[in-house]
Amino acid sequence: MELLRNVVILLHIVGFAATFGAWVAEAAARRFRTTRVMDYGLLVSLLTGIALAAPWPAGIVLNYPKIGVKLIILIVIGGLLGMGNARQRRTGEPVPRPVFVAVGVLSLTAAAIAVLW
Ligand code: HEM
Repeated sequence: MELLRNVVILLHIVGFAATFGAWVAEAAARRFRTTRVMDYGLLVSLLTGIALAAPWPAGIVLNYPKIGVKLIILIVIGGLLGMGNARQRRTGEPVPRPVFVAVGVLSLTAAAIAVLW
């Protein structure tokens, strides 16, 4: 059971890696677009995060305020990606730069909260 939890945590981190990695790649290529990889990474983070938010195996103690803050951040990122993708489809232009920056900063902030809180 403990091994399974650790595997889900690994997948949870893979979700973060996909979202943040795709964001870094866009920034490095100076395209500044939101992409499907960011969406899928966020979805993986959400699904695995929900699985981890249940207290298993028995006896495990979870930091629910921390989990709640990360959930809020994830919802905000999801909103930004949804808005950004729709706008990019409509106009063909990259998302407004502050929206792009916010996606990366919030993603990294959620990871920092996970590790440092
Ligand atoms: C962009 C959003 C997120 C990022 C970047 C993120 C990142 C991380 C990272 C790096 C870890 C491993 C470090 C650790 O165990 O302390 C972790 C663990 C965890 N995350 Fe997230 N997370 C996000 C969203 C969520 C959401 C939405 C939930 C729940 C609804 C969640 C629930 C958890 C739980 C329960 C753990 C394991 C903590 C433990 O077992 O001690 N995360 N997260």
